[in-house]
Amino acid sequence: MKKNTWKFTPLQIAAHVGALIPLLWMIWDIFTNNFGPDPIREFTLRTGKTALTLLLLSLACTPINILFKYKQVLKLRRPLGLYSFLYASIHFSIFIGVDYFFNFALIQDALLEKRYAIVGLTTGLILLTLAITSTLGWQRRLKKNWKKLHRLVYLAGALAVTHYIWLVKQGVIQPWIYAGILLILLTLRVKPVKKWAGSLLKGVRFSRAT
Ligand code: HEM
Repeated sequence: MKKNTWKFTPLQIAAHVGALIPLLWMIWDIFTNNFGPDPIREFTLRTGKTALTLLLLSLACTPINILFKYKQVLKLRRPLGLYSFLYASIHFSIFIGVDYFFNFALIQDALLEKRYAIVGLTTGLILLTLAITSTLGWQRRLKKNWKKLHRLVYLAGALAVTHYIWLVKQGVIQPWIYAGILLILLTLRVKPVKKWAGSLLKGVRFSRAT
């Protein structure tokens, strides 16, 4: 009998559903005319923020496993990264298709003139590379280099946060909250911190079990 390869854990189902809700919500808002006075800007902002949130969630999977020994969460890294890429692609498509109406001369000027656009584009290109090479086939082809290449996801996170910081007016706190979360996630990867946090939580787990 053919083996069923489409088995999802409840956590995986929750991740897929959770990642698709913002998109379905946006589609609903389009059809119900619920996007406010500047729908294009609203759509750009929402897709950008969702792309960044999913990228950080994807980056959070390994630290969660380190801290709580919860291996299941590692399976979410790829889908969350791919969903981030999906939202980033929609975000970018609105910029070139709706904001600039495929006027490539203007798009080129905007991309090169605005520093937030340059880092946004770089982030998008990194996410594209990671999405293409996220398959098992590419993993086999690139061998050890695959891991090295996929470390670029940290750079993508840092650039996406920079893009956000450079976009907003001074004094807006939200991008700094994202920056703080990213910093915590990156710090948890540093070996001594990883070891210390792991043993701290091991102690907590042990004292709860006894
Ligand atoms: C060439 C690529 C990109 C371009 C040209 C671009 C352009 C833009 C523009 C025009 C805005 C709205 C600015 C405003 O009206 O206030 C924006 C906002 C934003 N973008 Fe991008 N973006 C790009 C890539 C990305 C990527 C890859 C991410 C994340 C992974 C991202 C995350 C964000 C976030 C978080 C916001 C702010 C949302 C908010 O204020 O609520 N962008 N971007």
